[in-house]
Amino acid sequence: MLNTLGTDIKMEIVSSIKDLHLVLQPFKKPVFVPTMGNLHDGHLALIHAAKPLGDVTVSSIFINRLQFLPNEDFDKYPRTWEADCNKLKDAQCDILFSPPEFELYPQMQTFKISPSEDLSNILEGRYRPGFFTGVCTVVMKLIQIVLSQGKDNRTLILGEKDYQQLLIVKDMIRQFSMPIEVIGIPTIREKTGLALSSRNQYLNEKNKHKASELFFTLQKISQSIKAGATNFLDIETDAIAELKSKGWEPDYMCIRNAENLKIPQLNEPLIVLGAARLSNTRLIDNLRI
Ligand code: PAF
Repeated sequence: MLNTLGTDIKMEIVSSIKDLHLVLQPFKKPVFVPTMGNLHDGHLALIHAAKPLGDVTVSSIFINRLQFLPNEDFDKYPRTWEADCNKLKDAQCDILFSPPEFELYPQMQTFKISPSEDLSNILEGRYRPGFFTGVCTVVMKLIQIVLSQGKDNRTLILGEKDYQQLLIVKDMIRQFSMPIEVIGIPTIREKTGLALSSRNQYLNEKNKHKASELFFTLQKISQSIKAGATNFLDIETDAIAELKSKGWEPDYMCIRNAENLKIPQLNEPLIVLGAARLSNTRLIDNLRI
């Protein structure tokens, strides 16, 4: 962000909605990258993609209690504030909104956004019931707070790594007629193919290398479909068996319509999505076919 003299000023860090609205006032085209912190290069790719799309890049760090299930430990979610701020500054994020919990949830959040069941009860939603309601509720709130000030364009940036989340948020924006463009940014991967994720830090070196097997499985499925295979159910079952034989505990490996995640007919745009645990670390990934 430049000041009136044209020299660089630092990233603004604000924690209240009032202050955020003050710093956002001069801008017309905000681009927003919501996060829960614990940032890695995948998040920074979202900031880099955001920069040319508007006149101010805003990111948020807010660990959203509503999207944690009772068995998922909200208190143990890694909090890496200093490192996150430095990474955002280096990526030239202009404004960081980091509200304390009472700023976003001053009272119990009894109104919630329930996403379409056909999109939210499958895949991740089947294994993490209520997760997408938590995501949609906080994204709706964050959008109201961060993007309501936009005058010309308002853009929301999310990663394609959480593909189902991306489709559900797009659906929410469409169904509520919100004047916001949602852009999905391709997944960033390690050289081995492993998709970057905050959860990779729970893997030891050996398993970090082994974790690329999830992506290889997606690639193998993609290749066999491109080569003409049409029995999707068999392909999914074989992939799950193969992962199990390599020591994984797969939740699902599904070939779906890339636009609505329904079971696809032939000649539809396809995506394969997978989730599996490797020594208690649950990883997800997907690949367009
Ligand atoms: O993808 C995430 O990090 C979160 O689900 C999001 C979109 C920031 C909402 O808390």
